[in-house]
Amino acid sequence: MKELAGKNILLGITGGVAAYKSAVLCRDLMRRGAEVRVVMTEAATHFITPLTLQALSGHPVHSELFAAEAGHGMDHIELARWADRLLIAPASAQTIAKLAHGEADNLLTTIVLASDAPLLIAPAMNNVMWEDAAMQGNVDLLLARGVTMLGPASGDQACGEDGLGRMLEPLEIIEHLQLQLQPGLLAGKNILITAGPTWEAIDPVRGLSNRSSGKMGYALAGAIYDAGASVRLISGPVHLRSPHGVDCINITSAQEMADTVMANVSICDIFVAVAAVADYRPANCVKQKIKKNAETLSLELVRNPDILAMVAALENAPFTVGFAVETENIIEYATQKLTTKRIDLIAANPVSGDNSAFDSESNELTLIDRNGISHLSRCSKTLLAQKLTKEIAHRYHETHPAKDS
Ligand code: CTP
Repeated sequence: MKELAGKNILLGITGGVAAYKSAVLCRDLMRRGAEVRVVMTEAATHFITPLTLQALSGHPVHSELFAAEAGHGMDHIELARWADRLLIAPASAQTIAKLAHGEADNLLTTIVLASDAPLLIAPAMNNVMWEDAAMQGNVDLLLARGVTMLGPASGDQACGEDGLGRMLEPLEIIEHLQLQLQPGLLAGKNILITAGPTWEAIDPVRGLSNRSSGKMGYALAGAIYDAGASVRLISGPVHLRSPHGVDCINITSAQEMADTVMANVSICDIFVAVAAVADYRPANCVKQKIKKNAETLSLELVRNPDILAMVAALENAPFTVGFAVETENIIEYATQKLTTKRIDLIAANPVSGDNSAFDSESNELTLIDRNGISHLSRCSKTLLAQKLTKEIAHRYHETHPAKDS
């Protein structure tokens, strides 16, 4: 199937060991029908030869900003105008820094400045470099401008270390691209999402919470925004930046989350509850720090409102999607939640041992609705979020045909 037929992809390759994967990326883009032109930085040519990419793409590779023959028929302005998408894979720390600061000292960075095509970047570097504050500052700048960051993935690195910094595999990159090139799945829709944990105060310095990182909810908010929707994200305390374009409201406790959801739900078409809401809170939050005077201490807990069930029970309830985090009997428990909370779709994820979804970069989901069960296999949370967005959109449109015609 030629999913990328008619699409012009400018593939930028920068200096890094992962450049060898760009050959496969180029071939697979072509196999899906894309027209590919390759631009390599000088550093990239130390890792893979332009001849390989020329043979695969069927076109000369561009490297020189001031090539005498005007870039073999296309100069940087023509290339910038030609591209439907700019995809830089791998993107080195150096190139990311240049792009963040608008430098245009080689052909690739000049094309990025000269093009208004959406830019996708697949970083690849040593994990310590990736986590460096300067690098993260540059990533922040790019994200704030709407650049799509694909990865990096976590795992063994060529430098011998293990951690975040590997380039995403070519197939994952292509899936992102394909999903991004079919926009508008949720155009004009208003989506409300909850994400992250909640914090239930015991005293001014202590509280009850859980291991949710918020990554899945934030990735989903970003993917739904990319599908054309207006997204409001109500988030518990997390260490994540708001996804580009998403309106984020920060709250702390389950009660605050419930109040904020109820104040915003009337305008939404779809409500997605990804938050790991604390089911109970201390009956009393004491005003001063509790001293360890007694040998034992009992905490009385009271139930928090079930936000998802409350939304689903509304008279004009939006299309409701829940998550079920389960350590055992996943299908059974998730199906029970679908029925008892009377929601439209539930996404169940297993949490146990090293398969834990918490704070992991990847995840898998089992989707259950009234029509049956399907599975989204393990992949990065960003890609999973795009796949889930598609599933939600299809189900929403199936059940709301009149409004969309
Ligand atoms: N949820 C919610 N409000 C709550 C508890 C849960 O909105 N007070 C939502 C979650 O965001 C999720 C779904 O309900 O979408 C299921 O959450 P989960 O914690 O798996 O289940 P619970 O309903 O809390 O049941 P249990 O803890 O017994 O498994």
